[in-house]
Amino acid sequence: MFGALKNYSQDGQTVTLCYEKQTAKITVIKDTVINVFVPFVSPQHRSKAVDAAAFAGDKEHPAAFTLDKTETCLVLTTASLICRIYDDFMMDFYDREGRLLCADYRGKRERKLALSEALLELIRKEGHDVEAMKNKNDKVQCIKQLDAGDCIYGLGDKTGLLNKRYYEYENWNSDIPDPHEDSFKSLYKSIPFFITLKNNGIYGIFYDNTFKSYFNFGKENYCYYTFGSDDGNLDYYFISGSNMPEIVSDYTALTGRMPLPQKWALGYHQSRWGYDKEETFRDLAARFREYRIPCDALHFDIDYMDQYKVFTWNNKYYSDPAALLSDLKQQGIKAVTIIDPGVKVEKDYFMYEEGMANDYYAKSPDGSVYVNAVWPGDAVYPDFGKPDVRKWWGKHLQFYTDLGVSGVWNDMNEPASFNGPLPDDVIFSDEDQTSTHREMHNVYGHNMAKATYEGLKELTGKRPFVITRACYSGSQKYAVAWTGDNQSLWTHLRMAIPQQCNLGLSGMPFIGTDIGGFGADTTPELLVRWVQTGCFSPLFRNHCATGCKNQEPWLFGDEVLSIYRKYVNLRYTLLPYFYDLCRECEQNGLPVIRPLVLHYENDMNVRNLNDEFLVGEHLLVAPVVEQGARKRMVYLPDGVWYDYWTHTEYEGSQYYLVDAPLDTCPIFVKAGTILPKAPAQMYVGELDNPPLILEVYPGAGSYKHYQDNGEDFAYRDGAYNEYLFRTDGQKQLKITKLHEGYRDYPDIVIQYVEVKQDET
Ligand code: GLC
Repeated sequence: MFGALKNYSQDGQTVTLCYEKQTAKITVIKDTVINVFVPFVSPQHRSKAVDAAAFAGDKEHPAAFTLDKTETCLVLTTASLICRIYDDFMMDFYDREGRLLCADYRGKRERKLALSEALLELIRKEGHDVEAMKNKNDKVQCIKQLDAGDCIYGLGDKTGLLNKRYYEYENWNSDIPDPHEDSFKSLYKSIPFFITLKNNGIYGIFYDNTFKSYFNFGKENYCYYTFGSDDGNLDYYFISGSNMPEIVSDYTALTGRMPLPQKWALGYHQSRWGYDKEETFRDLAARFREYRIPCDALHFDIDYMDQYKVFTWNNKYYSDPAALLSDLKQQGIKAVTIIDPGVKVEKDYFMYEEGMANDYYAKSPDGSVYVNAVWPGDAVYPDFGKPDVRKWWGKHLQFYTDLGVSGVWNDMNEPASFNGPLPDDVIFSDEDQTSTHREMHNVYGHNMAKATYEGLKELTGKRPFVITRACYSGSQKYAVAWTGDNQSLWTHLRMAIPQQCNLGLSGMPFIGTDIGGFGADTTPELLVRWVQTGCFSPLFRNHCATGCKNQEPWLFGDEVLSIYRKYVNLRYTLLPYFYDLCRECEQNGLPVIRPLVLHYENDMNVRNLNDEFLVGEHLLVAPVVEQGARKRMVYLPDGVWYDYWTHTEYEGSQYYLVDAPLDTCPIFVKAGTILPKAPAQMYVGELDNPPLILEVYPGAGSYKHYQDNGEDFAYRDGAYNEYLFRTDGQKQLKITKLHEGYRDYPDIVIQYVEVKQDET
């Protein structure tokens, strides 16, 4: 297709390759990151995820590289990578030891139609060209070789197992109300980043294309995988590294990292579609306090609005929303309101009228404003790709901040539509250019989150708390996310683990699932096992659908209530650890919840481990995700581990059958851990400046701890403390202050853990 490589030229970090039929570009962003670009439709990247500064890399110290022409290829060499570029734009990447990491597949792509001859015959008779169907290529497409043993991770929120090899997926943000099955090809988020872990090597690929995209990870043919799209440029980043954390770090350096959240956002959130009046919220707040279950936020779903009109509050069931929110705040409870993109078509409704007057809504090709339907009935779609629309939306958020709202939950922003899908040719903007739904669909939620983040930041000066359902690569800069409408099913509790682990590897660190399940009815046992798992999700929210059984923890009897309380309390005592993990994430992009393979990639036992996860590097959680189970098999990776509850010592690299009665979620702590904890509180900030508790486990280790006001951006001007704790494993702890800029702890309490030997 490209023909022979005729010549090439270098301009700074970019090498332009002139083939007989096509030009391509390779840009060395850093020694481990190379951009591959074929301008099929536009000469510019026009990335919605990577900004110019990230693309430019380190301008002062650009990565050095050499170019050598051999008889067969052009060789580009950086300090970490060797890239051989051949005719027909075939490219192979090697590490500096000469090990092949990733090769373009030289054979022909052949789709397996998996249909019987009889059916194929029928299809032929209907006039279809079966051979053409088999050889159909995506308009933009890349085919890479797969080797035995290769595992593939990432790709955002897709259903199914941790390792995506042998499966196929699509990126087209989708709101599918049916129970999410392993066979689903797409869900709400499009994050075209994946990591290939080989027997001997590792690399990541970020395929920056917002059109409907296809990923076939060896399902079609075990010898190759493909990624491609309906349109756009071929624009991907090859990311190498000596281990998985380095690759995640490079990917997030490109697409951006989550800024520190407000600390309360890490607290417990209660929600339900159907909490529809003032008394309900007052009652909820009172009950949480009465039952001594910590709670930081109550969510207001669409019921608070007047006829589902965004930027309104119904006065039928709320006499004075500002007074309600202020009373809740007095009790330490913040309000988070849902805001959907669909604006009701209604004469004299200010959002509709203003948007119409200013040309802010997406249009049909004939120039009329495009109308579909969502909760309010007929609705129009703000064109969030336009900077003016984002500003307008952001300014209107003042309606909420004036009432005392502390966070905004963006939903239905795939965008969802009840009257069939939006046609491909609906006109949306891409900044200053006219574009289409086809190109902008997968970034609609991303741009809405950006509008919300920027609006809240401007209005409050605090770190915006924005939740989004739809995402593209880089949405982590603006919002946290949840996995959408799961169901109260054990399969969905099980799925929550690989789904969140893959989201984390894909740059989205602050995530959660609806605890208890959104659709269908939860059971006491399912709720208990879900809170035991969910208390480790950064977004810790119990949420369910109208019409389903209520899921407040006190509705299931004393045993459930007390177990629920135990795990919410656990979360609150671990808040300093969670907050440190968020800080780490802002600095290196590593997620809070991590699959074991992130830190133990050479251990074959963890490459397909779907029911355990790490929280940071120090805690390993093996929740029970099977109904009726009171024991479970746990795999502990290399090292020595301690049972969090009993302090029993375990040797790693082994499987254990451990006890897991209903009130126990097996948790293990790595030897040498210095675990920062806080006294339990009913909400973040209930205790003014509580002491820091350090739980010190046997073994030598060190730990960096971060402390600031948990609210605004003063930390960026130095208003924070950073400590380094070191233990030699002999009950000695050394504290060094690495940075001083915030008030001190009144006390640092050191607790050395007494260990029990495993008697099994
Ligand atoms: C969507 C959301 C869900 C919300 C509901 C009503 O289904 O995913 O969380 O409760 O809409 O707003």
